[in-house]
Amino acid sequence: MALERTFSIIKPDATRRNLTGKIVAKFEEAGLRVVASKRIQMTLAQAQVFYGVHSERPFFGELCDFMISEPVVVQVLEGESAIAKNREVMGATNPADAAAGTIRADFAESVGENSVHGSDAPETAAEEIAFFFSGLELVG
Ligand code: CDP
Ligand code: MG
Repeated sequence: MALERTFSIIKPDATRRNLTGKIVAKFEEAGLRVVASKRIQMTLAQAQVFYGVHSERPFFGELCDFMISEPVVVQVLEGESAIAKNREVMGATNPADAAAGTIRADFAESVGENSVHGSDAPETAAEEIAFFFSGLELVG
């Protein structure tokens, strides 16, 4: 098993309800370490590029509007098999399908406002980390 890094966003529905600490605690309990973290408000252009893979989907406009509606916390998480482990801790996209104890089961409000983003593969993790963090922010 290799030490990996993945990219996470604590979404506006969660920052609005002051759930950042509770969500980070779930990452840490799962063995994921926060190695970079900042609170930002995304621009529409950033959201559209970040979610570009979904640009043809019917929910794209609503998703981008939601992601820029309030600040988010962008993070880099590190651990053994961090990409898969983070997806496991997040739970299924639709909170109705998310396993008990996962972030989305405990906190998500709907399939759209589902509290967290997590990279889905090594390539997207590397791209997403580089999209939000400079090399200097990733030391150590
Ligand atoms: O976030 P995840 O990788 O689990 O799901 P996705 O299929 O990559 O979709 C990205 C995001 O689009 C989701 O997390 C939701 O916020 C949103 N979405 C939505 O609003 N309605 C759907 N039917 C599917 C996704
Ligand atoms: Mg996804």
